[in-house]
Parts: sequence; structure tokens; C-alpha cells
Amino acid sequence: MADGRWAIAVHGGACRIPSALQAPRREGCAAAAEAGRMILERGGSALEAVKTAVCLLEDDPAFNAGRGSVANADGEVEMDAGIMDGATLDVGAVACVRFLYNPVETAHAMLREPPVLLVGAGAEAFASSRGIAEAREPVRPATPCGSDHDTVGCVARDREGHVAAATSTGGLAGTLAGRVGDAPLPGCGFYAEDGIGAVSLSGDGEAIARMLLAARVMRALETTGAKAAAAAIFDPMARLGAEAGVILLDREGAIGIAHNSPQFAAAYVREGMDPVSAIVWEQDDVR
Ligand code: GLY
Repeated sequence: MADGRWAIAVHGGACRIPSALQAPRREGCAAAAEAGRMILERGGSALEAVKTAVCLLEDDPAFNAGRGSVANADGEVEMDAGIMDGATLDVGAVACVRFLYNPVETAHAMLREPPVLLVGAGAEAFASSRGIAEAREPVRPATPCGSDHDTVGCVARDREGHVAAATSTGGLAGTLAGRVGDAPLPGCGFYAEDGIGAVSLSGDGEAIARMLLAARVMRALETTGAKAAAAAIFDPMARLGAEAGVILLDREGAIGIAHNSPQFAAAYVREGMDPVSAIVWEQDDVR
């Protein structure tokens, strides 16, 4: 529906955020939302807005994605990312990439290609074939191994009524080499479909994948409002004793944010309102 109303939400991970990182993560989310706002306000696409916002978060070492990625059990960084165009249902995703500073950029370059997901060296070769700069050395872990399971993501609606979603992560610290979480799996860590909405998740990747959490939220969005759809993460995560956080928007651009983790860095802004950012969200914090 081309009603001219745009909206964007970004997140920087559902977890217990160390106190030194609380302000940087809140500010980083606000800056990424602002970058997306500038694109959407001048009539740019939801797809461009989510790619740009997630690239900024990947460049910010305060977040576990791109340059800020944590180490796996071998002390290496392996990153996953996915992006979806709600207008065409095209998906691009990469997993276990080690040499790409902006995994979401390569995922974005895959959108009009047949594969949905490329892994490791294949994804890096594809990036190279598209002129996307590869690091000569693997991306190094930015933080010591910890227990954080944060991720970054973005959902947006543009003035044409198209929606998009993207999610990117350095994965869970200390996991087995080759482990892939929910972030590059459509229906798990992200999804977008015009006429319904868009969703991006963060949290325990195995639990999110087992519960097809993005798909559940999308199904809820078909029958309920944005706030109620965000709350659809609670029962599945409680059932598995897992933590997650979600940002979403519905077909009209109404936003929902929810988490059962101690904190969830996020920010949002819509046409005609001031931006909002926080690290703890109650249902009524989102207008
Ligand atoms: N949610 C990010 C991961 O589990 O890899």
C-alpha cells in the first residue's frame, strides 16, 4: 500500500549487556535507525534502508556482528547474515564467513540470484566475484569469549509500502566451528512479506531455529496487531528455556518490540515522530 508512510526499527542484540556496552549499544542502534530514516524519508527503499543500517552495526565493534564478532571454540570468527525483500520474497544469506567485514552486503548481492544461502568459501568467492572487498586476513575476534548471544538486525517499511528485514551475527561465543544459528535462516532469524510485515530476531539461535520463531511471528502478524505479534516469542522461548528479542513492523508500519532476555538494545522511528532508543522494553514503550 503506497500511503507514503515509512518506519524503521533496529536491534543490537538480546542478552545481558555489560554496563560498559550499554550506552554504546543504545547509541549505535540510534545511529543505525537514523541512517535508515534518512534513506526512507527521501523515498529510498526498505531494502536499502535495512542493508545500510545493518552494515553500520556490523562496522561498530560494540555489537556482535562484523567487526565486533565473538570467537568460536577454535578462537576464530564465523559470521552469518540474511536479508529478505518483502516485495519479491527474494532472500540472500551467508553463513560461516570469515573474511567479510560486512556479511549482509554479500547477502544483499545474492538477492536476485538463485541460491538462498551460500556457506564459507563459496560465499566469499561469490563476494569476490561481485567486487565486494574481502579482508586479506580473517576477521579477528573483537572481544574475549563470553556468553553473549547478541546479534544485530533491522526491519523497515518504505513509502511504497514495501517491507524488508535483515539480521547479522558473529554467532554464539565458544560454539563448535561450522555451527550456524538462526540468523541466516529465513523463517527463523528473519522474514519479510509485503502485506504482512517484517521481523528480525536475536537470541539463542538453536531454540529460535527449532521454533521457526520468525515464521510464528509472521503468522501472528496476519491476525493480530504489532504488539501482540511481538509477544508471540514468549511461549515458544519459555518452552525451550531460551532467550530471544524481536523487532517487527506490520503492513502499516506499526512497530512491535519484545524480549525475555535481561536487555535488548533497540531503536525505532516512524514518519512524524521522534526516534526512540532503549535497552529494556516494556510493551507500552512502543507507540
Ligand atoms: N542468534 C544468533 C545465533 O544464535 O547465532
